[in-house]
Order: sequence, then C-alpha cells, then structure tokens
Amino acid sequence: MLTFIWAQDKDGFIGKDNTMPWRLPADLQHFKRETNGHMIVMGRKTYESIGKALPNRENVVLTRDLDYSLEDATVVHTKQDVLDLAQDKDAYITGGAEIYQLFLDEADALVVTHVEEHCGGDTRFPDIKWEKWRLIKREDGVRDAKNDLDFWYGWYQKEEV
Ligand SMILES: NC(=O)c1ccc[n+]([C@@H]2O[C@H](COP(=O)([O-])OP(=O)(O)OC[C@H]3O[C@@H](n4cnc5c(N)ncnc54)[C@H](OP(=O)(O)O)[C@@H]3O)[C@@H](O)[C@H]2O)c1
Repeated sequence: MLTFIWAQDKDGFIGKDNTMPWRLPADLQHFKRETNGHMIVMGRKTYESIGKALPNRENVVLTRDLDYSLEDATVVHTKQDVLDLAQDKDAYITGGAEIYQLFLDEADALVVTHVEEHCGGDTRFPDIKWEKWRLIKREDGVRDAKNDLDFWYGWYQKEEV
C-alpha cells in the first residue's frame, strides 16, 4: 500500500527555498509517528534538504544521477524501482513535488497536514482531484507558542469507482 504524506498551506504550497515554508514541530512529530518503521520514498532534493536518512525507517531516494550514492539510504532511478521495493509493504511517499507528481496515480491513501494560512512558497503540491478522496478521519492540531499556526491532520482513502 502506497500512502502519500505531506503538509500544505491553503494555496497548496509545500516548500520554499528547498525547505518547509513554516515551522511546525508538531507536524514533524506527526510525520514521525505515521511513518515510523515503514519505507519512506523521497526525491533527491528533499533528501538533501533534510541532510540525512530518517532513523528507524527504510529510506529510499530517487535520482536520475546514476553516480549518486548514499551510505544511509537506498538510491533508485525509476518509478518502477520504487514500486518493486514497496511491493507488499506499507510505504510512504514523502515528497517533494516532483515525486508526488510521479506517483499521483498510484496513491492508495493520503495523510495531509492542512496549514490554514497563506504561507507562500515556491513549490506546490501537484493538482489533485480531491473529489476522488474521502476524508475518513480528522484531528485538529494544537496551536501553541512553538506551533503558532492553525492546522489539522486529515486521513483520506480513495473513493471506490
Ligand atoms: N510540505 C511537505 O510535506 C514537503 C514534503 C517534502 C518536500 N517538501 C519540500 O519540497 C521541496 C522539494 O521538492 P522538489 O519537487 O523541488 O524536489 P524533490 O521532488 O524532492 O526531488 C526532485 C528530484 O528527484 C529526482 N527525480 C524526480 N523525478 C524523477 C524520476 N522520474 N526518476 C528519477 N529521479 C527523479 C531528481 O533528482 P536528480 O536531480 O538528482 O536527478 C529531481 O531533481 C522542498 O522545498 C522541500 O522542503 C515539502
């Protein structure tokens, strides 16, 4: 099963200057809880933005550069490589925009942090047909001094056709 996980603002922005457009440590904890113990798949730019593999998860990094290698992650070059590795696993597509676009038709479930602000940015989540997705669970984020934004978490399943 392939689950997309991301955080976006009201305009669909997910990134700015190769990092996140906001500071929301609660969302990082949420990401950790959701993906812990599972495979996570990311683009080379997102990997470099984080700067290292995330612990306790099988990290898979996509690049077209055949000479690229990492000590702490599995490097792959095609969508099919990822689908082969993810077979019979709960794998999470963790961005960025290019990688979400690449797997958009393969997603089985979505876990979305909705940041209820206009934060701006340079990278947006790709066009997604929300009518094809059903919200099955939602949870409000707790706004506090360290997480000074309104936000909520949504879990979505694909509508049966
Ligand atoms: N808000 C969120 O939840 C969230 C999550 C993740 C990332 N982000 C943000 O998103 C931004 C980065 O997104 P991005 O779209 O610029 O970059 P990205 O998707 O992280 O990485 C793009 C790279 O992936 C590789 N790639 C793309 N398509 C490929 C394909 N078909 N086959 C093989 N490799 C492929 C290429 O690497 P090479 O150039 O090495 O070939 C490409 O340059 C950052 O600002 C980051 O902070 C936000």
